[in-house]
Amino acid sequence: MINTSFNRTQTSQNRSNYTSKNLFYLEDVSVKFGSTVGLSHVQFSVERGEIVFITGVSGAGKTTLLKVLAGDIEPDSGRVKRPDSTIFISQVFQDLRVLGNLTCRDNLNFCYDPKFYNSRKEFDKDIMELARIVGITDRLDIKMKNANGGLKQKIAIIRALLSRPDIIICDEPTSSLDSESARKIFDILNLYNIKRKLTVIWASHNKELVKQFSGRIVHLDGGKLVYSGHACFI
Ligand SMILES: Nc1ncnc2c1ncn2[C@@H]1O[C@H](COP(=O)(O)OP(=O)(O)OP(=O)(O)O)[C@@H](O)[C@H]1O
Ligand SMILES: [Mg+2]
Repeated sequence: MINTSFNRTQTSQNRSNYTSKNLFYLEDVSVKFGSTVGLSHVQFSVERGEIVFITGVSGAGKTTLLKVLAGDIEPDSGRVKRPDSTIFISQVFQDLRVLGNLTCRDNLNFCYDPKFYNSRKEFDKDIMELARIVGITDRLDIKMKNANGGLKQKIAIIRALLSRPDIIICDEPTSSLDSESARKIFDILNLYNIKRKLTVIWASHNKELVKQFSGRIVHLDGGKLVYSGHACFI
C-alpha cells in the first residue's frame, strides 16, 4: 500500500488543474540529483483506468517520474497528489527483482497472500490464466536464473498482477522486449484494464514498440515532458 497525500513540497499559488478523476496529479514538479536534472517542471496526471506509456531515451527521467508517482522520491519543487490508501499499487522494477534460485512457478507461489484470494485454488487459477495468456504454461518449471529476459519480465508482470492491484507501475528493463512478447504482456494488461479497471503506467525507452498498443504516450526529454497524447507524432 502506498502512502497517500496531497503533498505540497513547495507552496504554489497557481490555479490547479486537478480533478477528482485524477489518481495522480503532478503540478510543476522538478527533481534534482545534485546538479543533474531528473525532472524539470513536469505537469502530469493519470486518471483511473488509463493506460499511459512513458517514453524517452536513457536518462530522460522515466524512472524518476515513476519513483515520484510511487512516493519513493519527493520532488524538490512542485506538488504531487497520489491516490488514497484504499488504492493498491503494484510496481515492477527495471531490475525485475525475481528470485534466481527459484523456478518461475515458485516465484509466483511466493506471492500468495490470502488477503487477496478466497482460496488457494482461486490463486492457482489466476496463475494458470495469466501464464496461458502470455504463453508460458510449459516454462513454469524453469529456474529463474536460466530464464531469458522475456520470460523473466513476464513472470515479474504476472507476479505484480497476482496481488490484484488497482494500479500497476512498470519500469521496463532497457533490454527491449521483442514485439511478440510485448504483445502478450499487453494482452493481459488490456484484459485486466477492461476486467478490473486496472490503471497501467508503463515506462519504456522504445516508443516505436509502445506505439503499437492503445494508450496515451507521454514523452520525456532531458527531464521535461515534451509530448502527451494518443496519436504519437514524435
Ligand atoms: N540516484 C541518482 N543519483 C544521481 N543521478 C541520478 C539518480 N537517479 C537518476 N539520476 C539521473 O537523473 C536523470 C534521469 O534518470 P532516470 O533514471 O530517471 O532516467 P531513465 O529515463 O529512467 O533512463 P533509463 O532508460 O536508462 O532507465 C539521469 O541523468 C540520471 O543519471
Ligand atoms: Mg529508468
